[in-house]
Amino acid sequence: KKVAILVSGGGSNMLTLCDSMVADHPARPVLVLSNDPNAKGLERATARGLTAAAVDHRQFGKDRAAFEAELVKLLDAAEPDIICLAGFMRVLTASFVERYAGRMLNIHPSLLPKYKGLNTHARALEAGDAEAGCSVHIVTPELDDGPILGQARVQVAPDETAETLAAKVLIQEHRLYPAVLRRFAKGDNTPVELT
Ligand code: GRF
Repeated sequence: KKVAILVSGGGSNMLTLCDSMVADHPARPVLVLSNDPNAKGLERATARGLTAAAVDHRQFGKDRAAFEAELVKLLDAAEPDIICLAGFMRVLTASFVERYAGRMLNIHPSLLPKYKGLNTHARALEAGDAEAGCSVHIVTPELDDGPILGQARVQVAPDETAETLAAKVLIQEHRLYPAVLRRFAKGDNTPVELT
């Protein structure tokens, strides 16, 4: 199975996914794409010998469809079987999502269905949650809403801050996403539960 990974920032999830696709793994990374030409993840991908490219969303103003048409051109050239959104921070239109229906995954730093959208850690702390975590789900047109393929949980400490929680959850993201991708690439949608 060929995997394309979309990033917007540092790409730590992209790197751990790529590092997990070794030896007997059913999938291999074929393209790393970003909406930001300056994304650190692009140079980290290139340094790993991966094919990396960017489509600068700022060149398209409000024309989301035109931006996505450029993404599609690059994706179609790589012919991925699976697309992994990994710290990708652009909202995708329903038509883009439908084009890759059932084979595009996303990792979100909350225990979905709680805290869809942004500032997930601050919101969990605000709510006084005893635990937090991350979720990998199949991408559907509604933001952060598709079928959940895996979750990892962390305990919230009494003195937790959004920053310390984000760091704890990110470590779990790096465990969860590779575990989910390995199963998903084998056609196994049994949810992964990590504690
Ligand atoms: C992190 O906040 C992570 O929780 C979310 O995307 C952000 C950056 O991730 N998934 P990455 O280092 O670019 O993978």
